[in-house]
Amino acid sequence: MSQPATQLSAERLVHAPSAGDEWWRRSVIYQVYPRSFRDTTGDGMGDLPGITRELHHIASLGVDAVWLSPFCRSPQKDAGYDVSDYCDVDPMFGTLDDFDDLVAEARRHELKIIVDLVPNHCSDAHPLFQAALAAAPGSPERELFHFRDGRGPDGNEPPNNWQSHFGGPAWTRTTDDDGAPGQWYLHLFDSSQPDFNWDSDAVRAEFERILRFWLDRGAGGFRVDVAHALIKEPGLPDWGGRPDGRSTEGFPFSDAPMFGRAAVHDVFRSWRQLVEEYDGDRILCGEANAHPVETMADWVRSDEMHQTFNFDYLGAAWGAESFRGVVERSLSAFDAVGAPTTWVLSNHDITRHSTRFGLGMTGRVNEGGKISDLVVDEDLGLRRARAASLFTLALPGGVYLYQGEELGLPDFLDLPDEFRQDPTFFRTRGERVGRDGCRVPLPWVAGAPGLGFSTRPGSSEHDDATPTSNAWLPQPRHWDRYARDVQAGDPDSTLELYRRALAVRAERGLGLGDLAWLESRPGATTDVAAYRNGRTVVVLNSGDEPADLPAGSVLLESTPGAINADGRLVPDAAAWLDVEH
Ligand code: NOJ
Repeated sequence: MSQPATQLSAERLVHAPSAGDEWWRRSVIYQVYPRSFRDTTGDGMGDLPGITRELHHIASLGVDAVWLSPFCRSPQKDAGYDVSDYCDVDPMFGTLDDFDDLVAEARRHELKIIVDLVPNHCSDAHPLFQAALAAAPGSPERELFHFRDGRGPDGNEPPNNWQSHFGGPAWTRTTDDDGAPGQWYLHLFDSSQPDFNWDSDAVRAEFERILRFWLDRGAGGFRVDVAHALIKEPGLPDWGGRPDGRSTEGFPFSDAPMFGRAAVHDVFRSWRQLVEEYDGDRILCGEANAHPVETMADWVRSDEMHQTFNFDYLGAAWGAESFRGVVERSLSAFDAVGAPTTWVLSNHDITRHSTRFGLGMTGRVNEGGKISDLVVDEDLGLRRARAASLFTLALPGGVYLYQGEELGLPDFLDLPDEFRQDPTFFRTRGERVGRDGCRVPLPWVAGAPGLGFSTRPGSSEHDDATPTSNAWLPQPRHWDRYARDVQAGDPDSTLELYRRALAVRAERGLGLGDLAWLESRPGATTDVAAYRNGRTVVVLNSGDEPADLPAGSVLLESTPGAINADGRLVPDAAAWLDVEH
């Protein structure tokens, strides 16, 4: 008989129970991507009434809040992250009345609605930017953005060497009324997304108005897009680092002239005060793609935001050692500022974790080249995704879920190029495929046209896609197996696993708990990560051999049969156990 792969002998406490008990310290927040959630008008695009209609499904998961990706008026050049009117709903998604109905329905389910705020840039169709284009260089209208003369004798070269996050230069040249080439404007993302100048008091006042508009309408808070980039270094000096703000050798994040400038924190301090004027414990969650995680914690100091997304966890490779490292480092960084850590495995910008873990790559795959040529083991990916989710859902802190992960959805890697809409794909001429693969409309009903996402069948025909869908992106043919109606009530399904795990998490107060590693004996495999949170022990096995489990009764297994006849945890699996103190 083979030796046990692991012996869990000693405990090492790395996180004490949270000091406060506010809801956002232990929240589970479900991200809805409105265009892909549920279409009630038959135009192939999800809408706000669709979210209201299906909200009970989200509530039945046992979450605290719903974060809606952008639904404001927008030309949709970057799926709504290019806003032309911050205080109106895009007709594609409905009306302000539909938003009010959604908030009312959410209250009935005791859910909060978190609005996605996009303050770094607007759409080039925004009236303020149109006014700036029409105004002269040096005018107050142009002061709201970053307009500069070009370099070189004819001003033909961009004002500096910054690169757009989506590829290509971060500057676009304007054309004056007489047809002559004019000044350049800065856009860290697409050329249709001009950056606001946050040194302008008028910009600050405008956003305070926008915050109050949604808070007055009942928003439970904001997810703040690109929260690390609002303030730019005076003079806009050249920089050779990566446009996503992660460090590259020789160009550390701390030196980036467009990311993480000290003055950006003053903006969020003032917003915290503003949000606290309202009742109901409303929150700010920063999308501060700052690196390393210790830097990210600056956004959640006690007088700043309540939460920030943990991008290191999102980017962690599959495996016990990798997860353990990020968890320990994150807890220590966030504990140092008295803030909760958040845990996130998937979102609308990153290849879904069931695909990533079936490829054996990290979450940053979308940053690279074409991935559709790579072979994904979908069943392995799903097994690992369920294990990773179980490992995550008992961690102390907040959790973000991305719509569809509770169904175990993979990415649509073979999405035909003719359907692609992400500006990344176009700005890199297809070199980077972009993020459409993780944004495909949800499957609701197996066998139904468009898998029940849309009320009207359409005509999009493709070998790899469902033939009867008019959805804005087609769904793969084999997604019947992931449909919500097939999974509901099936105790072995991913959906029921999430429901049970979230119920146990709530019953045991795991979000506010502590964390002690159960350490392996020296020399044992590092492929097992095990922690105790109160009376709950979580074990993940990413090795090739079954692993021993500590004594305790089984609460949950990541897949049926995860614990074998010998009482050991099989590879690519996780389990929750109830243990005596
Ligand atoms: C981050 C958002 O999550 C992403 O989808 C968007 O393209 C950029 N910010 C620009 O707003």
